[in-house]
Amino acid sequence: MAQTLDSLLAESRDRLKAAGLESAGLDARHLISGLLDLALAALLTRGREPISDEDAARIRAAVERRAAHEPVYRILGEREFFGLKLKLSKETLEPRPDTEILVDCLIPHARRIASSKGSCRIVDLGTGTGAICLALLAAVLDARGLGTDISEDALATALENARRNGLAERFGTVRSKWFEAVDGRFDIIVSNPPYIRSNVIPELEPEVRYHDPVAALDGGEDGLDAYRAIASHAGRHLETDGVIGLEIGFDQKRAVTALFEAQGFRLLSAAKDLGGNDRVLVFQQDIERSNNR
Ligand SMILES: C[S@@+](CC[C@H](N)C(=O)[O-])C[C@H]1O[C@@H](n2cnc3c(N)ncnc32)[C@H](O)[C@@H]1O
Repeated sequence: MAQTLDSLLAESRDRLKAAGLESAGLDARHLISGLLDLALAALLTRGREPISDEDAARIRAAVERRAAHEPVYRILGEREFFGLKLKLSKETLEPRPDTEILVDCLIPHARRIASSKGSCRIVDLGTGTGAICLALLAAVLDARGLGTDISEDALATALENARRNGLAERFGTVRSKWFEAVDGRFDIIVSNPPYIRSNVIPELEPEVRYHDPVAALDGGEDGLDAYRAIASHAGRHLETDGVIGLEIGFDQKRAVTALFEAQGFRLLSAAKDLGGNDRVLVFQQDIERSNNR
């Protein structure tokens, strides 16, 4: 008898459950809907439809990869972020829903600046798939963005994602270690840099440890290397009325705030993630301090 969508869904869920995955049912649905290009709702309404042997074989192969702890969206090769479909590659971090909060916090600033100046220049340090910068460009039509990264693979992926989402005319890339190869001033400096302490990396879940690139995770001995590098040069690259938006680790608010305050910035706002952890900091130049110097 031919396999139906329902029977393959049940088989996939059971295989992932047996592999010990708590999210077995959800993962099976996302994998199958992604591989067959069907909306999740269609899995419910079209459950009795037969599946070709070829599709069943593709699905079984994908389920085996997930059973070995490869993340669902790595297997599918793309992930949605802020409504944009983003391709993933070997050296790009899979963009996380928490990072959408950083985008949410910066959109009002980008709109304010674009409406007062007619444009808004954004630099996204460590752009990876381009997620943050591309989401800002999609939301603010007068904005232009530069994505930087140390990884050529990431920059090529970010450019491809800009093309796929119709944003290539307003997005460029440069290979750079933080600000090293970046010229000029920007209205918004944004970064979700690597911020995990080196000694914690071996303890991360296998989905992250083996499938996200280490350069996207490792923030050095205390997790703060990237923030130090960014804070020490940000003053030379920020317009007077501009802002710096950063994603941080759950326990880094005080330390990162101190690093930026020491370089003449003031914390303008902070936001928590869906789990209630500190996740986003937005800084501006501390005009009072610089006037008193
Ligand atoms: C946590 S990932 C963030 C990726 C993407 N911005 C996002 O939010 O999904 C950090 C990124 O910083 C890049 N990176 C690591 N060290 C860097 C450095 N010294 N200079 C520039 N980029 C760096 C990594 O290659 C990676 O793409």
